[in-house]
Amino acid sequence: MEKKEIVKNCYYLEAEKYKDGFDGWLGILEHKKQVPFAIKRVYFIYNLVNHENVVRGKHAHKQLEQAMFCINGSCDIMVDDGVKREKIKLDKTHTGLYLGPKLWHEMRNFDNNCILLVLASDFYDAGDYIRDYQKFIEHIKNDSPGGGGPLFLTDLKM
Ligand code: TYD
Repeated sequence: MEKKEIVKNCYYLEAEKYKDGFDGWLGILEHKKQVPFAIKRVYFIYNLVNHENVVRGKHAHKQLEQAMFCINGSCDIMVDDGVKREKIKLDKTHTGLYLGPKLWHEMRNFDNNCILLVLASDFYDAGDYIRDYQKFIEHIKNDSPGGGGPLFLTDLKM
């Protein structure tokens, strides 16, 4: 697993591609091989009404680790570690993203029929969410011994 970080706690993941005879391909995601955490929950975002304008996410997690794969169509994932912010287009079935804890993320620009598959390290827990950006920044500051670094709070045009 290559771990070149895009922002802190975020890097690309590659599903194993298995050519299944003449029929097509299998994509495989397995703990310790393509996914760095034990998978306790799977959910998927699909059938989005008003898919061009919808914004999902807009939160960070305190503990949860996730892996996101756009298994049909494409969407943009904005990731923000409190210091650096990047926009990533997920448009390949086999290329996904690892999102660790303490990472603000927003999903936008879904195309029609987009299916975003998410693997999660734990069961759903509303208490693990930070849904306010300023509280997220405070959470990071309180967490890191030297406090947070410089913040780029300007909103990205996505
Ligand atoms: P949320 O994680 O905010 O969705 P997204 O990140 O796609 O914007 O979840 C939206 C709602 O769905 C949330 O209020 C509760 C419910 N939900 C569950 O019940 N279980 C789950 O595993 C998830 C992901 C969400």
